[in-house]
Amino acid sequence: MADLDPTFYTDGEIDVNPTDNPTLESIVEGRYSRRAVITRSAGLASVVSMAGFLGGCGGDDAVAAPTATITGSGVQTSSGAIGQLTATAGGDPLTGVQWTQTSGPSVSLENATTLNARFLAPSVAANTPIGFRVTGADPRGLIVSSDVTVMVEPGKVGFSAIPKGLPDTVVVPSGYVVTVLYRLGDPINAATSAYANNGTDTSLANRAGDHHDGMYYFGLAATGNTPDRNNSSRGVLCINHENITQRYLHPNGATPAPRPVGEVTKEIEAHGVSVIEVTRSASGAWSYVQGSPLNRRINPLTPMQINGPARGHPLLRTAFSPDGTMGRGTLNNCANGFTPWGTYITCEENWSGYHRRDASDAALRGTKAQAGLARYGRGGTSSGNYAWTTATPVDAGDTRFAKFNITINPAAPADGTGDFRHEINQFGYAVEIDPYDPTATPRKRTAMGRYAMEGSWPGLFVSGVRPAWYMGDDSGGEYLYKFVSATPWAPADASAPNRMATGDKYLDTGTIYAAKFNADGTGQWLPLVFGQGNVTAAYAPYSFADQGDVCIHARHAADAQGATRMDRPEWTAVNPATGEVYLTLTNGPNRNGTTLPVDAANPRVYVDPPSTTRSNRNGHIIRLRETGNTTEALTFRWDIYLFGAGADLDPVNINLSNLDATNDLSSPDGLWFSRPQNAGGLVSPLLWIQTDDGAFTDQTNCMMLVGQPGSVGDGTTRSVTSTLANGSTVTTQTIIGAAPGVKLKRFLLGPKECEITGIDSTPDGRSVFVNIQHPGEDTTTGFPNTFPSNWPASQTDPNAVSRPRSSTVVITRTDGGVVGMS
Ligand code: FEO
Ligand code: CA
Ligand code: CA
Repeated sequence: MADLDPTFYTDGEIDVNPTDNPTLESIVEGRYSRRAVITRSAGLASVVSMAGFLGGCGGDDAVAAPTATITGSGVQTSSGAIGQLTATAGGDPLTGVQWTQTSGPSVSLENATTLNARFLAPSVAANTPIGFRVTGADPRGLIVSSDVTVMVEPGKVGFSAIPKGLPDTVVVPSGYVVTVLYRLGDPINAATSAYANNGTDTSLANRAGDHHDGMYYFGLAATGNTPDRNNSSRGVLCINHENITQRYLHPNGATPAPRPVGEVTKEIEAHGVSVIEVTRSASGAWSYVQGSPLNRRINPLTPMQINGPARGHPLLRTAFSPDGTMGRGTLNNCANGFTPWGTYITCEENWSGYHRRDASDAALRGTKAQAGLARYGRGGTSSGNYAWTTATPVDAGDTRFAKFNITINPAAPADGTGDFRHEINQFGYAVEIDPYDPTATPRKRTAMGRYAMEGSWPGLFVSGVRPAWYMGDDSGGEYLYKFVSATPWAPADASAPNRMATGDKYLDTGTIYAAKFNADGTGQWLPLVFGQGNVTAAYAPYSFADQGDVCIHARHAADAQGATRMDRPEWTAVNPATGEVYLTLTNGPNRNGTTLPVDAANPRVYVDPPSTTRSNRNGHIIRLRETGNTTEALTFRWDIYLFGAGADLDPVNINLSNLDATNDLSSPDGLWFSRPQNAGGLVSPLLWIQTDDGAFTDQTNCMMLVGQPGSVGDGTTRSVTSTLANGSTVTTQTIIGAAPGVKLKRFLLGPKECEITGIDSTPDGRSVFVNIQHPGEDTTTGFPNTFPSNWPASQTDPNAVSRPRSSTVVITRTDGGVVGMS
């Protein structure tokens, strides 16, 4: 196990007692003084009974029995849960009740001066006793006490699974509460009005965007704008806004092309990223701070700096930035990552479709440029998503709409500095954002490569070891990538004052690798380095020019090196206790044996009724362990943690993980381990799985599950027989992890037609933020009078008729424990 960064480690201990209650030492001192008073003044047969606590001190005095009694008890509990301590008083009235801890891992007591105290059970690796003592005084001040030992078990997935269903609310298990925090259109400054939510609103650059997705919480100090990474009551949330449900943004839906400027502006501004301050009140209620100076919207028009090997590259020159060092905007921001120096990483996924390309363009591009576009989905013509370039009147003089048209202007300079033929090369990156400095220009980290980048999650940070980020490229048959920094990790950089410069240090120089999964359970990281292997000018169909070109066309480089084609690589997550890397392969629409053959890492082709298509329709989750447990490794071992499937499907060849009604799922997408600052992310961390599904939706809305996985190699090999699209049968050996059983449970259902995507928690794990994306996305019936979902209004009003809004929700436990544990 690698060392965790001590900067962020608190062992699950949470201060929950806000009182000035006395310490154990002060109570002891008080007893001695009371004893002295009693023995002097009344001449009573004097001495206190201290139930063993001070018993050895009173042997020289006669003993008077106290006239009150106290008996304490406690209930066995487990890491992350709330431990209950109960005292029963008898005899004369008892005063001065005080609970204290006498042994075991340190905890903070809540309600410690009442008969019923509580504590948050700490993270333990084995059953661990914790000792407590409750004391009180009888009417004469004589002290009585009782000792209690509470056994704390290791943490486990601790709630009753909720059933599948088709509600129009967010549903969570008994004992949990859902609060809607931040909805599409919510204003982020004092000058912007409340969202009318009828299509008439403007100024989306000053409101929450649409289609909330990847997300991260950055703690703030109690006051001011400085970081306090362990503060669980005040922080900044960075939230991706991947896309839009276009129709709901306008009173009567979108105007066909040519599009009105007002509509296009609104649609553009509804994409991007929100940076918003959030706070938890003394009562425990969360809200976002509408007027916070930290609030910020980043959208597809926000200036961006281009860093890394492609900075200044000829393929990035545009009329906006003739030297190829700047760009405008981030687009289709899906999943995310973070850095330990306190910055957010937002990842650009399906940007390709937004770019217009006219028929005239093909004849004006060379073969290589054509191959470059084709590999990223723009080989043909397109008017571009939402036809933004048709906005009329055009541009207000600054090419804000024209930039989405990549068609070559034959009258412009051949180097691309007079048009936007290269604009498309400015998207597909990991983009670093400083959440604590609203004036910091985001930086595109081209060293990490360009893909339909789903997310970019880091491995563990170990002093002196070069850190890595793991990236899925979400398209059928694409690859898993790893970026390994050239710079070994220095823990002092976690608090470096210049966060973006620290990003330059770690994220602008390094090596990209693509993953090759071998049939025997081993794997290789294939370097995408200009001049190595097939990544050269001689490679066909794409002749690489230099490393900047390799970064911009990383998919071609991975092709050249022979990486393994996977079933839509979505999110990556890293187990904070082991460093093992998990990857959702959300489904394989083209895994049918013909377009893509089966292999050990993508072994299933089947039919999931009512569909009649042969594919990997329900997806799976693969995981890998780096050789030597280091992010620098060039090889790994893998197995498949989980196969998605309905519980009613064939257990021999489809439902390979033996899922049942409590945990069957389809299309795993969002993926996240609990943070290691609390019990949920220690010892045997919780894995959170979110679905973006269209296969199981006849039975259930999309969902989130909580698992507690083992590790690579805890299962066995397995033969899987598939009937391929051409009717032939093939049997494939794969490697499957231990079936999850009760260590995987359904925790949340979303409202109708939504996707569950994006999750983080406060450092203490007691508040979990989750994004609900595109509820009611099927706008074809009833609009503009009725809607297939009325969420979030429907969360509290079952009769609400309201346009649905993507939103962030907060989930807490009514008893205040770590969410997901018992
Ligand atoms: Fe935006 Fe691959 O999900
Ligand atoms: Ca996704
Ligand atoms: Ca998705």
